[in-house]
Amino acid sequence: MQDLDALVKDALAAFARISDADELEQTKARYLGKTGLLTEQLKGLGKLPAAEKPVMGARINAAKTLIEQSLTERREAIQNSRLEAQLEEESLDVTLPGRGSGFGGLHPVSRTLERVEQIFHSLGFEVADGPEIETDFYNFTALNQPENHPARSMHDTFYLEGGKHLLRTHTSPIQVRYMESHQPPIRIIAPGRVYRVDSDATHSPMFHQVEGLWIDERISFANLKGIVTEFFKLFFERADLQVRFRPSFFPFTEPSAEIDMSFGEGWLEIGGCGMVHPQVLKNVNIDSEKFQGFAFGMGLDRLTMLRYGVNDLRLFFENDLRFLRQFS
Ligand code: FA5
Ligand code: MG
Repeated sequence: MQDLDALVKDALAAFARISDADELEQTKARYLGKTGLLTEQLKGLGKLPAAEKPVMGARINAAKTLIEQSLTERREAIQNSRLEAQLEEESLDVTLPGRGSGFGGLHPVSRTLERVEQIFHSLGFEVADGPEIETDFYNFTALNQPENHPARSMHDTFYLEGGKHLLRTHTSPIQVRYMESHQPPIRIIAPGRVYRVDSDATHSPMFHQVEGLWIDERISFANLKGIVTEFFKLFFERADLQVRFRPSFFPFTEPSAEIDMSFGEGWLEIGGCGMVHPQVLKNVNIDSEKFQGFAFGMGLDRLTMLRYGVNDLRLFFENDLRFLRQFS
């Protein structure tokens, strides 16, 4: 019969070396399992002379108690250290700075749009809207733009499949849509996205315009100049602005002008404008003898460029946050 003290010592030493719960249970089986070393000792008890049985039985039981105690302690120790490791891993450093919830900001062109709406609102204009996918009729025909006008070519305009619809090339079709359903007095602006086959530092294939339209009985070119000049004063909040009305041509206004602003060494075209052509009024059944008025269409992206001194308009649409964050 193996020395019991040695067996106990062995078991305790084996448990002490183990730090894995599964391994501990397997080792336990080596001593206390059905064919474990201590169980074998108990089985051997039967072969002993009757006088020795009680003494030996008591000794084996004492050894068993020691081994079980040690096992329980070890189990608890392993569980505790696992818990500690878990706590350590999941611990919060409350002194770390927060990640923040990343507040967004308005795109600079959206800021311009809000500002433009606010200013024209203060000047008595309402905001109208229209579709970005237009028909040839509203984008060109109703605006007195003849079949052979260059803007109607595939070269300048994004046509949708089938050729019936197009991406509006300006916000002017909203003039027509609005006048179809309203009689004068009319005083609206209509901002929105427009599209052209264009791309350079001052042209983007998608850009924004704001249309303006004022129709009443006694509206003149002087009112047009007054409103546009007042708008620029309020928008840029600067007295040293230089604005120029340059004679031009649009099929839907007569007379027509381009609105330019000083920009660096030269001028930057901001928009087109003019007195609404009588033919356009006739097209929407407004009495052109009684009513007249002006319209304008300004580039919101160009206004944003000037306001912030940005020299390439395409930067607004690359969506590089390092650029966009400078405006919010
Ligand atoms: C027009 O689109 C006319 N509908 C404006 C108008 C309205 C005239 C009402 C008379 C009465 P134009 O093509 O010039 O005009 O464009 C107007 C403005 O849009 C330009 O002055 C410029 O500021 C802006 N613009 C034109 N093309 C682009 C582009 N590709 N990218 C950015 N801005 C542009
Ligand atoms: Mg122009």
